[in-house]
Amino acid sequence: MSETAVRPAHVPVDRVVDFDIFNPPGVEQDYFAAWQTLQRPGVPGLIWTPRNGGHWIATSGEYVRNLWADAERLSSEVLAVTPGLGEVMRFIPLQLDPPEHNPYRNAVMKGFASRFVVALEPKVKAVASELIDDVIGRGECEFVGDFAEVMPVNIFLSLIEVPLSDRPMLREFGKQLTRPDGSMTVEQLAQAADDYLWPFLKVRLESPGDDLFSRILSVPINGRPWTVDEAKRLCRNLLFGGLDTVAAMLGMIVLHLARHPEHQRLLRDQPDLIPAAADEFTRRFPTVSVSRNLVTDVELDGVTMKAGDLVYLPSVLHNLDPRCFDAPEDVNFDRGLNAVRHTTMGAGPHRCVGAGLARSEIIIFLREWLGRMPEFRLDPDRPVTMKGGNVAACTAIPLRWNV
Ligand code: HEM
Repeated sequence: MSETAVRPAHVPVDRVVDFDIFNPPGVEQDYFAAWQTLQRPGVPGLIWTPRNGGHWIATSGEYVRNLWADAERLSSEVLAVTPGLGEVMRFIPLQLDPPEHNPYRNAVMKGFASRFVVALEPKVKAVASELIDDVIGRGECEFVGDFAEVMPVNIFLSLIEVPLSDRPMLREFGKQLTRPDGSMTVEQLAQAADDYLWPFLKVRLESPGDDLFSRILSVPINGRPWTVDEAKRLCRNLLFGGLDTVAAMLGMIVLHLARHPEHQRLLRDQPDLIPAAADEFTRRFPTVSVSRNLVTDVELDGVTMKAGDLVYLPSVLHNLDPRCFDAPEDVNFDRGLNAVRHTTMGAGPHRCVGAGLARSEIIIFLREWLGRMPEFRLDPDRPVTMKGGNVAACTAIPLRWNV
């Protein structure tokens, strides 16, 4: 994972910073603080690390946002910082560049239209409520394993109407993709996902139903039906896109609320604030970073990045940059529209298609959890732990409450 590269001639010596994106120092305690070290005075807006094969990192919030939105000079085709990932997964629509991306994106957007997201609300509520039933009487839980990682999987399974008995297996796939532990190769992971999903997909292709896949696959691509290969690549993208991202977000929100009982009380007393709170939490706790390949030379920040170079774009360095947001570390439910101009969901043509669904999941989660659970706090005897990666997350959040 951490293959060290030799500095290429076009990278100035003063841009070299030894930074392992998968394991920045201190990440186990605080992912956000670990990344914020790259915004210390004196660190340039664009740096190059020899780790993981050697790549650029945009450290200025403005550069992160602008480069992310720039699909003309930066390609999504190979997500190469994780070795082999992009070549094997070939996600649709994530790894297609415009204009090829457009018809697929259009089909996926139709599938996720807001009326379908609204129609899903009772299912999301039922999933959240059922998981709360499991823990509420115990007076304690490990929130990541007991709740955060389970809720999005169950929702995904409801979306595509596959049996809930398959939950644990899909959970493992999601973890392996975003935080590989070496127990499965990327090829094995892609194969396992395909083997599992193909029977469901085949039925949807042959006789479309009301589920998400059927809706997407019924929209023609440039006037012709989806091919089997394309349908598999879409399926992988939807499967992996909405699991660990939502789990990470729920974890970060609960960690904040456990540390800030005054915010628990505020949202319990004024539940009308919950949608604004969901937007602000989404801004405050960005966990996704992406890689892009340069398709042309790009001059920025006094250096020239060469065509073929990789650049890493961490949303944390945009959302927590004081030049982009006032007092960015404060959780402030009154930011209004300023709260939604963040990059937690990306920027430009690949901005998350599941953003509406994710927002709905967060809002429903907050209503259910705060509506039913008594005031909760961190367990003083067990540590909170975090992990870095393309999707960072808490790996343990031990909670307690009085029963
Ligand atoms: C809080 C939860 C979520 C976060 C933080 C998140 C984040 C992101 C980000 C940053 C991107 C852009 C990637 C890039 O530019 O390379 C993205 C794209 C995408 N996300 Fe999400 N996501 C979330 C939830 C979901 C859900 C629930 C789904 C679907 C079930 C989903 C499906 C996708 C897909 C298919 C794309 C690719 C869009 C395209 O390439 O046009 N995401 N997401």
